[in-house]
Amino acid sequence: MMLVEWDDTLILGMAQIDEHHHKLVDILNRCYRALMLHDHSHELEGVVAELLDYTQYHFRTEEELMAQSHYAAAPSHAAAHRKFINSVTNFKDRSDAGESFVAIDVLVFLKDWLVGHIQNTDRAFANFLNDRAGS
Ligand SMILES: [Fe+2]
Ligand SMILES: [Fe+2]
Repeated sequence: MMLVEWDDTLILGMAQIDEHHHKLVDILNRCYRALMLHDHSHELEGVVAELLDYTQYHFRTEEELMAQSHYAAAPSHAAAHRKFINSVTNFKDRSDAGESFVAIDVLVFLKDWLVGHIQNTDRAFANFLNDRAGS
């Protein structure tokens, strides 16, 4: 029972960031499984709390890297992160309230957002770092 399949289109060639993204995909899949099984137990609460914590940790890491490398698009990239944190918080509130169906819609939205963000916004930053390293 998978929500997101990890594949090459999600790999940016930055070991630490790729590892974080892989773990985020993994956590999203665990959220999905827990919701589909209507498992409103500690398992779901735990995995949704982990999603929020790990997302915040990952965004902090990326934002520190952007600051260190004086990346011009850092403010808009960070603003996108803030919006996503709000969506994850919304997902957490709804799943905590037992709204399985609504929560699955929100989870699908989170999945689409994350995949698009990695493939576009994060990839743009990875390309910037690669170009710098090559020049
Ligand atoms: Fe990322
Ligand atoms: Fe990002």
